[in-house]
Amino acid sequence: MAEYNKEVLVGLQGKLKALKGAYSAESNPELKLELKEEIEKYENIVSLYDPKNNDVLKISNLYMQFGGLKVIKNLSFDINRGEIFGLIGPNGAGKTTVFNCVTQFYKPTSGDIRFKNSHNEIVNLLELKVHDVIDYGVVRTFQNIELITELTILENMLVGAHKSYRSNLFKQMFHTKSLMEEEKVTRAKALKILEEFGLLDYKDNYPVGLPYGVLKRIEFARTLMLNPELIILDEPAAGLNESETIELTQFIKDVRDKYNVTIFLVEHDMGLVMNVCDRICAISF
Ligand SMILES: Nc1ncnc2c1ncn2[C@@H]1O[C@H](COP(=O)(O)OP(=O)(O)OP(=O)(O)O)[C@@H](O)[C@H]1O
Ligand SMILES: [Mg+2]
Repeated sequence: MAEYNKEVLVGLQGKLKALKGAYSAESNPELKLELKEEIEKYENIVSLYDPKNNDVLKISNLYMQFGGLKVIKNLSFDINRGEIFGLIGPNGAGKTTVFNCVTQFYKPTSGDIRFKNSHNEIVNLLELKVHDVIDYGVVRTFQNIELITELTILENMLVGAHKSYRSNLFKQMFHTKSLMEEEKVTRAKALKILEEFGLLDYKDNYPVGLPYGVLKRIEFARTLMLNPELIILDEPAAGLNESETIELTQFIKDVRDKYNVTIFLVEHDMGLVMNVCDRICAISF
């Protein structure tokens, strides 16, 4: 286990011990109940640090409130490495909000969200800024298509790799050999991904005019430019017809199998959810 994990674990175990002590000493039933929830939360978090634990993402006792509106109330679930996990629920139940809490677009009111990478290093996502989450291998798509219309599909793929470009501004100004080398590698990677998923014919096309199903697949493929371990998809089948949805179902499985990634998706289309997900969590109001 990484040294960093060990240090955090010792802290968590200390906190758990203190909570258990407080619980035994407390006589007020309401406060006792609150302490019990806290104890359960910390026990849940500590379990992620067990080397045998195969979770990629652990959400513990998540709450999210916008002003007086309590959207997420005490939500906990785990996602295992390599699985396709679905989050379902009616309109407005808070599915996108959960995604936004994981990717740090929102800071939750309370709760805990930890991510364990393939080297068993654990990071508390709540301690990260939104643009740093990607560096840890957590990448998302949005509910609407986010491709840039002025760029070709290949250029969109290259822009998608932006966060992983290592060259600094100085190198870019002088367009040095190493940058050119890096561009070559990135370009080759983009072409390989497009080819692997049967999208190479579209590389010089602009997004406008391409079928919506194709755009959805390109947007999804683009996440692979960032070397993700966990891909988060918000309603990937929205706006697709039946045959496009069937194609997308196979596509999601192919991405998982070829790239050994874990996939976390929100979806209304129950056909897709039932066909593609290994496990499902349902939320309501
Ligand atoms: N930034 C925000 N400020 C205030 N309220 C918000 C904010 N984001 C979401 N909400 C509210 O939280 C609730 C849940 O919204 P969310 O978008 O998470 O639902 P959803 O389950 O993704 O719905 P849909 O199926 O329509 O996509 C809604 O009532 C929404 O208005
Ligand atoms: Mg939504």
